[in-house]
Amino acid sequence: MADRYRRSRELYERACRSLAGGVSSEFRRFSQPVPLFYERAAGARLWDVDGNEYLDFTLSQGPLLLGHSHAEVLRAVAEATERGQLFAGQYQAELELAEAICGLVPCAELVRFSLSGSEAVHAALRLARAYTGRQRWLRFEGHYHGWFDEVAWSISAPSVEALGPVEAPRPVPWSEGLGPCPPLVVLPWNNEPLLREAFARWGHELAAVITEPVMCNHGCIEPQPGYLQLLRELCSQYGSLLIFDEVITGFRLGLGGAQAYYGVTPDLAVFGKALASGFPLSVLAGRREVMRLVAEGRVIHAGTMNSGQPGVAAALATLRIMQGEAIHTQLFERGRRLMQQLQEAAASLALPVRVMGPGPMFHVGFTPLAVVRDYRDTLHYDRARYAAFVQAMQERGIRLIGRGLWYISAAHTEADVEQAAQAAAEVWRAA
Ligand SMILES: Cc1ncc(COP(=O)(O)O)c(C=O)c1O
Repeated sequence: MADRYRRSRELYERACRSLAGGVSSEFRRFSQPVPLFYERAAGARLWDVDGNEYLDFTLSQGPLLLGHSHAEVLRAVAEATERGQLFAGQYQAELELAEAICGLVPCAELVRFSLSGSEAVHAALRLARAYTGRQRWLRFEGHYHGWFDEVAWSISAPSVEALGPVEAPRPVPWSEGLGPCPPLVVLPWNNEPLLREAFARWGHELAAVITEPVMCNHGCIEPQPGYLQLLRELCSQYGSLLIFDEVITGFRLGLGGAQAYYGVTPDLAVFGKALASGFPLSVLAGRREVMRLVAEGRVIHAGTMNSGQPGVAAALATLRIMQGEAIHTQLFERGRRLMQQLQEAAASLALPVRVMGPGPMFHVGFTPLAVVRDYRDTLHYDRARYAAFVQAMQERGIRLIGRGLWYISAAHTEADVEQAAQAAAEVWRAA
């Protein structure tokens, strides 16, 4: 039988001789049978070097909310970069973008731009410690806030036992080589009694609580009703800052992010991914009173490449398109339709598939559990079975993220939704 991935295999073998592990980001290592090499992408599709076409539900890990190679975004970047690519000085487009974000995002009274979500998280935590004069902060199991040392704890674990007792979880390192464990309080998410207990014990010491407002990175779990409100109340009561990591939810659940969608305004928030349609740009946004420390240079935030023309031009164009075309209604409709079709296909075959999430992003996995509300619950997902599903979908020309998250873009048509649902049904019938 002809090898569908012959060129990719050859290039990967070659890549392993110069690129560590053949890739530039850990998450790219897991693609089967090898990390694929792509040649071009447009709209909802991309093509690999072997000429295989894929309908894309990864959106390249989320940024391509408008679809690949959106003509208006690419044109805006090309025009902006004709006049220079990095002034490392001030220019008007940067300030227009700052004004636009302050007009859209509830917590954004002042902003700063960086390149990656990880950097923006790093700045938010530094700022929270400086503002409160406290060192300790609280994070939740299974939330991902980037790959930097201070947040590389309790992102994942090999088993529930490794996480420690539910009422007193232990920080689990994500990598070798991390510095000493920061003064963390780690909790399972979506658990009100444990949150109240943690605040009663540690509240006066907490500089911040950082949370994904939807636990996108494991299970795409939404907050239980009232949970984000409780976080807000407890943070206000104890003088801790509430940080929303909106790197995934931002500009995807709506132009105001998850904070507008759920009606809870944090003190600080970080954005990345969808804002600049795949060009490097992230944002730290927050209340003026807190951000003042950055404005006055008491908390240092810096970066040679910050707010370069490609990212800023792409973000301005992306926001203009999102506002002009009201894309979010369509994202929710198409996403929910696909979720429903996948759930129905699985149910008709009596498969233990669970589909959950708000719609513009959602999670699919095999689990016997009827309720999935925190990271510990997601450890019951059958990952090997889902990995086999992802590979079978790839053979049928559907590109999926290995850990179960699906992203919908404005470029997905109703026919694309049908195609994906049908492919999944075929795979499940054949299994
Ligand atoms: C919720 C969340 N926060 C932070 C990050 C880190 O962003 P970046 O990969 O741009 O550093 C990610 C990346 O996937 C993310 O999903």
